[in-house]
Amino acid sequence: MTAEQKRQTARFLDMADDYLSTGFYNGERLYNFTSDIAASASVTVDADIVVDVEGELRKIEDEIRDCRNCPLCEKRRSTVAGEGVSRPLAMVIGEGPGADEDASGRPFVGAAGQLLDKMLAAIGLSRQTNCFIANVVKCRPPGNRDPEPEEKAACMPFLRRQISILRPQAILAAGRVPAQTLLQTTESISRLRGRWSEWRLEQNSAAIQLLPTFHPSYLLRDESQKPLAWDDLKKFARRLAAMDASYDAASASLRKKYKI
Ligand code: URA
Repeated sequence: MTAEQKRQTARFLDMADDYLSTGFYNGERLYNFTSDIAASASVTVDADIVVDVEGELRKIEDEIRDCRNCPLCEKRRSTVAGEGVSRPLAMVIGEGPGADEDASGRPFVGAAGQLLDKMLAAIGLSRQTNCFIANVVKCRPPGNRDPEPEEKAACMPFLRRQISILRPQAILAAGRVPAQTLLQTTESISRLRGRWSEWRLEQNSAAIQLLPTFHPSYLLRDESQKPLAWDDLKKFARRLAAMDASYDAASASLRKKYKI
């Protein structure tokens, strides 16, 4: 082997070593394999990657702020990327910002958001401690209409990247629009709610447990549906407890209180 071949081999091994452990070489991302990491529950994520999660989230947020990929950008006051912890146990995915969210740039802050926070708190979850809250579309559909298929298609790559980086143990799809969009179905929310699905970013990636439930706005309009939503939340809590020992410990008293 010539000196040059030895030098190139050493450089290649150095690069492969860095790349396989972090996805970076010399500070440069060679390949975004967060979805591959997400595929393997056994991969230990080290401190470098944790820092990168926050960086990637900020990058997505910046791209969303500049996004003009669909007509929703015309009338928005703010974009609403999402908020929560960068290593969430669970992700809650709603439909899209309403008037309060459009004004503040934060997800689920209006009346529905306040109910959502209470629902989550009842099972030991919150955006401050162990959840990330996002929406299918990041800009407000005028008059709170449903987002159009082209608007959802334009925005879904952002949500998919968020899921890939955040790697939640489970997703709560809050309402018909996120449930139907993520599951690519037209089944009614009444049929979808309370039924677990295995959701995958890509065909061969690891499954993320996904549970649809009613949207909190719907529960505000029809309180008689709250017991069904509560059944869904208990189901969600039980599955999280089975998957994550830290959640089990944190929520033990709540589980006792609510008999879940
Ligand atoms: N409804 C949603 O679906 N998302 C929000 O962020 C607020 C209300």
